[in-house]
Amino acid sequence: MKKVNVAIDGPAGAGKSTVAKMAAEKLGFIYIDTGAMYRAVTWKALNNHVDPRDDQSLETLLKHTEIQLTQKNGSPRVICDGQDVTEQIRDPSVTRNVSFTASHRNIREDLVRRQQQLAAKGGTVMDGRDIGTAVLPDAEVKVFLTASVNERARRRYDEQVAKGIPTDIDELKQEIENRDKLDTEREVTPLKQAEDAVYLDSTKLSIEEVVKQIYQLAVKGA
Ligand code: C5P
Repeated sequence: MKKVNVAIDGPAGAGKSTVAKMAAEKLGFIYIDTGAMYRAVTWKALNNHVDPRDDQSLETLLKHTEIQLTQKNGSPRVICDGQDVTEQIRDPSVTRNVSFTASHRNIREDLVRRQQQLAAKGGTVMDGRDIGTAVLPDAEVKVFLTASVNERARRRYDEQVAKGIPTDIDELKQEIENRDKLDTEREVTPLKQAEDAVYLDSTKLSIEEVVKQIYQLAVKGA
């Protein structure tokens, strides 16, 4: 099968990373979680007392930051400057701040370049907010994946509870709404459906059904 690029965009908690990872496995493609890259920069900034609202300091920090997306025993790992930060970048402090990091033009330009290099040979499933519109405008397959905000909060809640993390569903919903607002209203390449993207509302679909649809689109696009 031809190694096409599959771009998956959508709001927070829509299940993009779960289905993108499964679709990539099924297709024999590489899964690229671009949100993890914005999170890694945010994590490093917070650790170095750099304010994620300060674009100049962030730019300097990013110039000296290496981010690798790898796999270990079949699960994606995020390595920042040689350190495995896969768990740390999911910390609520990172989640609360990541949309500030992602709002700066200079930071986006740098990370988008890195993402384009990762997809240069094709054969990727890449998820994020601007993949179909800015990172890979020529991707053969584009999907805009969403679900109702209640359903997205409920899924996140179930995930957290399964991990044994005490969680308040109303707080989760608020956090998702805040992040969506920042991501859709920012000036630079805001979260938006690409004109040629297939709209998929997963509110009433199972993970397997969504993966199947993405797989079929990739086969058709190849
Ligand atoms: O996908 P995830 O929820 O981990 O993304 C974290 C944040 O990173 C998003 O809320 C958004 O602010 C930012 N992001 C982005 N562009 C991408 C991927 C993520 O702005 N391509």
